[in-house]
Amino acid sequence: MQRAEGCRIQTDEGEFIDMFMAHGSNVVGHGRPEVVDAIKESLGTGVIAGYETGLGAEVASILTQLVPSAQAVRFVASGSEAAHAMMRIARAYTQRDIIIRIDGHFHGGSDYAMFNQLAPAIDADNPGGQVSRPIIRTGGVPAVVADTIAVVPWQDIDALHTAFAAYEGRVAGVLLTPIDYNNGCIVPERDYLAQVRDAATAHGAVLMFDEVLSGFKTGTDCAQGMFGVTPDLTALSKALSSSMPLSAIVGSVDVMSTVMRPGLTGTIQGGTYAGNIPGLAAAKATLDLVRAPDFYPSLYDRAEAFYRDLRDMFARVGLPATVQHAGCGFGIYVGTTEPVVNYAQVREFDGELRRQFFAACIANGVYFHTDFTVSDAHTPEDLHEVLTRMEHAAKTVV
Ligand SMILES: Cc1ncc(COP(=O)(O)O)c(C=O)c1O
Repeated sequence: MQRAEGCRIQTDEGEFIDMFMAHGSNVVGHGRPEVVDAIKESLGTGVIAGYETGLGAEVASILTQLVPSAQAVRFVASGSEAAHAMMRIARAYTQRDIIIRIDGHFHGGSDYAMFNQLAPAIDADNPGGQVSRPIIRTGGVPAVVADTIAVVPWQDIDALHTAFAAYEGRVAGVLLTPIDYNNGCIVPERDYLAQVRDAATAHGAVLMFDEVLSGFKTGTDCAQGMFGVTPDLTALSKALSSSMPLSAIVGSVDVMSTVMRPGLTGTIQGGTYAGNIPGLAAAKATLDLVRAPDFYPSLYDRAEAFYRDLRDMFARVGLPATVQHAGCGFGIYVGTTEPVVNYAQVREFDGELRRQFFAACIANGVYFHTDFTVSDAHTPEDLHEVLTRMEHAAKTVV
């Protein structure tokens, strides 16, 4: 890759229309002038990180107005750090050790996140209602880490109750991604998140939403606003700061106060790059853009027309594919025309057909990787061009 602008990337092999948008980070478009100008201007304050600043307070204040769970805010640099810190805060707050996680959900690079990460690592033998086996596909993580987490299948409320019963009095929190874009776009069925909320409250456990990828894809109130379920802690990143390294941990004052307490009933959270000024400047500029009243309605109009056209195209060409979306994020499952609601399904699809279609898209100048984003920089004309190129790719495969 050489450079990115709007919805296009220039590479050593020519230009692509980008549907990946830097891991879903550039919802306002690559190199959006308002964001770039804010970053440039921030450099006049000196390139510093690791201080509390007025800009940090301003961005935190905006987050408390927009995100339902945000009463208090801490900044870190990456999504992995934010997800890891949430788990540590939950453990210190409850003085318990077990984190319940969901089979297949992705939470970045901490050791606790490495088990059962993404669809290929789910416990396919779980009959339902049970705690899954820990499955790991990387070296370097001590096996003992598996004893500190309990993994349950997605949308399996019985399995969640089983885990709470099996670890009675030991569960610090439940960590999940409310919309799973990392495995395409899997949206929970009605009431599931509310049931998880109730179970966590009943057992005195902290509910944590990892909205690193889902944040600001479905509106300024994020997935938690869309579902009307408020977690105790939330991790935000990516679209928050349009690709600049800045993440936020937000949550209730009660739980977040754990980081203010000294000693073993509190916890340490911080870092050199926490709240770095260029990252905060990018976040402020991004939040100002997405807070404009017509930002999401205009984006959704374009995105939803595109999803409709994409579904029609697959049907017309005869390539079996399901397109699922939430807000401006979407997933394409090649090999099925059924709705995709769980990861067992994702594993069963024809991987070769998917590989061929995705390779043909790239050969036709449409770039994507694991997840797809329609950004504010994608005009109806750009999306029409994507559709034409994808149709050509689909025909080649058929
Ligand atoms: C849901 C989720 N959590 C955490 C992370 C990790 O974020 P980072 O790559 O900034 O460490 C990602 C990254 O893709 C993510 O999608």
